[in-house]
Amino acid sequence: MSCKKSGESCILPEQGLAGTIPNMANRTGQLQTQMQEWLQLHACRQSSAMQKLCNETLELEDGEMLTSPEQLQFLAFLATSISAKNAIEVGVYTGASALAIAEILPEGGTVVACDLTDQYATYALPAWKYGNVEDKVQLSIGPAIETLQMLIDEGKENAFDFMYIDADKTNSKNYYELGLQLIREGGIIAIDNMFYGGQVADTSINDPNTVATRELAAFLLTDKRVDYSLIPIGDGLAVTRIRF
Ligand SMILES: C[S@@+](CC[C@H](N)C(=O)[O-])C[C@H]1O[C@@H](n2cnc3c(N)ncnc32)[C@H](O)[C@@H]1O
Repeated sequence: MSCKKSGESCILPEQGLAGTIPNMANRTGQLQTQMQEWLQLHACRQSSAMQKLCNETLELEDGEMLTSPEQLQFLAFLATSISAKNAIEVGVYTGASALAIAEILPEGGTVVACDLTDQYATYALPAWKYGNVEDKVQLSIGPAIETLQMLIDEGKENAFDFMYIDADKTNSKNYYELGLQLIREGGIIAIDNMFYGGQVADTSINDPNTVATRELAAFLLTDKRVDYSLIPIGDGLAVTRIRF
């Protein structure tokens, strides 16, 4: 999650004022602008539904919360590579990442899309309909910890193949732990904003989001339950695959 402009602060629903994030989530911050533009023009496949939704989202004041096009494509690639049928997303916003995942799910596949608020559903629902995936997305409104726990309580352990975590950063590790119960062996959990705008590498910055992300990175590095790689795409994407 990031804010509209470099250095601006943003408000996360559960946390009040969050720290400032010097980079943006809707682009790969490590790339210079020219290269970023080239990448998005020459290496990103987008459906017309995705193009329309991304354009609409970028018009919003907080449009930079949008996952970058190259990362949306990579998430779809990851989910396809494990023949995902059932997925979970934590942090829906205007629905782009749910759309990217739903687009590759087979007939009968579902993505449970969790968000605290339905404030952006007026963007997400028409986009899912236009993309012909409305039957594949199940929007679940409420604190994601409760939604994920509810899935576990319903007996859905190991029932999912793929999970994308992109919500309040101080809870990313909680979502990951709940995800480990819900995702099958060989399934993938991907976590966004692992660079937190580059702040993880700056030891003088110690706001709760940065510290939580730094601690999560240290934890993932040694977590023997998963194979792991941190990909420098977007704002840093942790990719974990649950070991057999
Ligand atoms: C960065 S945006 C998600 C962007 C989205 N993945 C995309 O690709 O466009 C983060 C979202 O997390 C949601 N969120 C924040 N705290 C949450 C919580 N405790 N439970 C569920 N969702 C939460 C926010 O409402 C917001 O829509």
